[in-house]
Amino acid sequence: MSIELTDEFIASNIMGPNTALLAEELVQDLELPRGSRILDLGCGKGVSSLVLYNRTPSTIFAADLWITATENFERFRKQGADDRIVPVHADALDMPFAHGYFDALVSIDSYHYFGCEEGVIDAVSAYVKPGGEIRLAVPGMVRDFGDDVPPELLLSWTPEDLESIRSIAWWSDLLGRSESIDIVSITEMACFERAWDDWLASGNEYAQHDRAAMEAGAKKHMNLIAIRAIKR
Ligand SMILES: C[S@@+](CC[C@H](N)C(=O)[O-])C[C@H]1O[C@@H](n2cnc3c(N)ncnc32)[C@H](O)[C@@H]1O
Repeated sequence: MSIELTDEFIASNIMGPNTALLAEELVQDLELPRGSRILDLGCGKGVSSLVLYNRTPSTIFAADLWITATENFERFRKQGADDRIVPVHADALDMPFAHGYFDALVSIDSYHYFGCEEGVIDAVSAYVKPGGEIRLAVPGMVRDFGDDVPPELLLSWTPEDLESIRSIAWWSDLLGRSESIDIVSITEMACFERAWDDWLASGNEYAQHDRAAMEAGAKKHMNLIAIRAIKR
């Protein structure tokens, strides 16, 4: 049974560019059997977990660091989705799961917070069974700027904030060095404009903070990146 995700629910629970759109696009061709398990890593307030609930017959482990398991459990229960979503409070770099436990790892607008170092993909993909799916969506840049950051980006973000917002070439290089995964594709996502418009219209205070850069033209430097890989 699928649940209704209203525009109001999404607007009040997203923590960045509309996660529901990112999740829909990232997993549109993901096919998993009944009884399978997905790790939604850095699930925030669980919008992506609820999309996965509707899109798959899987049990979803909704893991996050900043949002407590109790808060997310309340949200999933109110939505009638707590039969197949397990809320977990965890740090991606120290998770309480068995290696090889998941059929798929999905992470939306989160991986760049902890995954920009070599070796992290090996650590987190260890929880995925061989042949399992890895799907990551991250905010990105059309190209890497180094020290030459366009000034409009600095209206909303510091150089440190921007260090984890990288290009497709950068992610291809970092993840391509891993011997734990085979990359299937790393591509720009089609939902960029709509996802950002929804975020800026959401009323969230962080969205108001992001508005200055976007209104000054930062959008032309930015994209959203979908990473698809298979666990070896
Ligand atoms: C911008 S929010 C996105 C949340 C959600 N995926 C969404 O799109 O609404 C980034 C999330 O990354 C999570 N995060 C950051 N570092 C993490 C870590 N080391 N382990 C687990 N989650 C982490 C935060 O808790 C936060 O909820």
